[in-house]
Amino acid sequence: MNTEVIIETRDLGKDYYDGDRVIPALRGINLKIYRGEIVGIMGPSGSGKSTLLYVLGLLHPPTSGVYLFKGQNILEFSKEEQAHFRNRELGFVFQSCDLLANSTVYENLELPLIYAEADTNIRRDKILRALERVGLSHRVDHWSNRLSGGERQRAAIARALVNNPSLILGDEPTGQLDQKNTDIVVEQLRNIARQGFTVVLVTHEDEIGRACDRIIRIRDGILVSDGLEAQAVGSPPKIGPEPTVSIT
Ligand SMILES: Nc1ncnc2c1ncn2[C@@H]1O[C@H](COP(=O)(O)OP(=O)(O)O)[C@@H](O)[C@H]1O
Ligand SMILES: [Mg+2]
Repeated sequence: MNTEVIIETRDLGKDYYDGDRVIPALRGINLKIYRGEIVGIMGPSGSGKSTLLYVLGLLHPPTSGVYLFKGQNILEFSKEEQAHFRNRELGFVFQSCDLLANSTVYENLELPLIYAEADTNIRRDKILRALERVGLSHRVDHWSNRLSGGERQRAAIARALVNNPSLILGDEPTGQLDQKNTDIVVEQLRNIARQGFTVVLVTHEDEIGRACDRIIRIRDGILVSDGLEAQAVGSPPKIGPEPTVSIT
């Protein structure tokens, strides 16, 4: 059983400000996420799901608390170190498909490799490998605006995977897909987790929640359950193996 903790937060808080008004979006979140899990973050609209995901993704700085990533206190990193860390260790899949339209699938997947300063000679292998993981190898030289909605979102997942990140974060990644494509994308995300990647998804759809290994529920910025209660105390969830060896 894999028990490696990928992320841990302690009393994580995030306030937004609207003029003089303070909006406490996260109020003391304590959680742990283990390697190879697919975790759903659920809760009513406005409960802080996206904020939590953005804070975990180092896209928004938290107001208070501790955030450990593989034991490292990444909030103490400089802005530059955080950006570098984000490029190497995190992959993002958003609701709206944000692939570059006038570019091929290859070019879209190459961008994060360029940001992460991956060597030119290994880029193609990494891109093909990521596309293979989502069953999209045959689309490598396609224009991204010629892909179907579901293929685009799979390409976006492949792009999130291409640097072999420790954590993949998705904010309602199937929010704009029809049922058939939703099923395909959810299946792909499950596959990714089975391959040893760690996936955290914000969703309000029960069906997607059921496809997750566990659900973290939040309400008014407070974690109301983390899905570990049903398991033995101190026993992390049963999860997949480490990712298969990557080309580095
Ligand atoms: N950029 C922002 N500025 C001010 N308030 C915000 C901002 N983003 C979110 N909020 C507020 O923070 C709370 C949590 O929002 P959010 O994380 O988007 O919730 P959810 O994703 O669960 O719908 C809400 O009250 C929302 O209005
Ligand atoms: Mg949201």
